Amino acid sequence: MIRVEGLTKDYGARRAISNLNFEAKQGEIVGFLGPNGAGKTTTMRILTGYMPPTDGSALVAGFDVVDESLEVRKRVGYLPETVPLYTDMTAYDYLKFMADLRQIPDSSERADEALEMVGMESRANSFISSLSKGMRQRIGLAQALIHRPEVLILDEPTIGLDPGQVVEVRKLIREIGKERTVLLSTHILSEAQQICDRVLIINKGKIVAEDTPENLQSRLVGSERVALRVRGESDGLSKIITKVKGVQSVHSAPDGSIEFQFAPGQDVRPEVAKAVVNAGYDLLELRPVGMSLEEIFLELTREDNRRK
Ligand SMILES: Nc1ncnc2c1ncn2[C@@H]1O[C@H](COP(=O)(O)OP(=O)(O)OP(=O)(O)O)[C@@H](O)[C@H]1O
Ligand SMILES: [Mg+2]
Repeated sequence: MIRVEGLTKDYGARRAISNLNFEAKQGEIVGFLGPNGAGKTTTMRILTGYMPPTDGSALVAGFDVVDESLEVRKRVGYLPETVPLYTDMTAYDYLKFMADLRQIPDSSERADEALEMVGMESRANSFISSLSKGMRQRIGLAQALIHRPEVLILDEPTIGLDPGQVVEVRKLIREIGKERTVLLSTHILSEAQQICDRVLIINKGKIVAEDTPENLQSRLVGSERVALRVRGESDGLSKIITKVKGVQSVHSAPDGSIEFQFAPGQDVRPEVAKAVVNAGYDLLELRPVGMSLEEIFLELTREDNRRK
């Protein structure tokens, strides 16, 4: 588990995170989502016992990150933003070395196990210097798993991976997350949607939203949006739709369809369809368009006007 209370960190005069409060339970994958400079890495460094907070407290696997940082380190696996790898070692030797550092008795078996978990067993004897960026990322992940930690803190775990590997690593994280606590940071909204049970959106050092990906999406959609397509030219269509009572806004989408919005609960689709058909168009499609998590994210982290 992870429990964070009032966590605050100042770098000199700059406040990087401010009064963060959240929890992550065992078996839960929590996503930390935020733009550059939001405070994700700062929070993660504190949670791994790497540096102390300025104020507030954090328990990881039941231990205080400041007073019991050694106990915390034993139980937490950390994939940092940039993994410090020893490039003149082979993948296997590096992992065995990391296991030995942690005084794990069966370090050779653990090195093999970790390599297998990240799908790198065929490159066990390759020097790290000869591995691709994505492969190094996977070795970093293997290093974080080597002591079978109960809490995993992953700072942008899929960055630099090819699409096939992204799918694999996400699957792996889901698998790992079944029995452990995982906190991962990402800029990729769809990633949070796919792997996380809960998402914390952080902006400028503050948590601005916290919910399941599904709830975030439905809670924040202030209006319903529908895309409409007709056969042939759609000239003049926007004007016709705009005139329908209840329609809030109309615009042309890049794919040639026309999108319109209406308030939730005031479904104007039948009226719009009638108006379009009566004007002589062949109506091909009326399709609801969900607000993407990307849009929600931009909405929440926008400087000025936050959605009511
Ligand atoms: N070592 C440091 N010294 C001074 N300021 C720092 C230091 N590390 C981070 N900061 C500042 O703290 C704030 C949060 O940075 P942090 O690295 O935690 O953001 P992040 O959410 O991880 O961003 P990114 O998505 O770019 O990785 C930023 O304003 C940053 O400039
Ligand atoms: Mg970061």
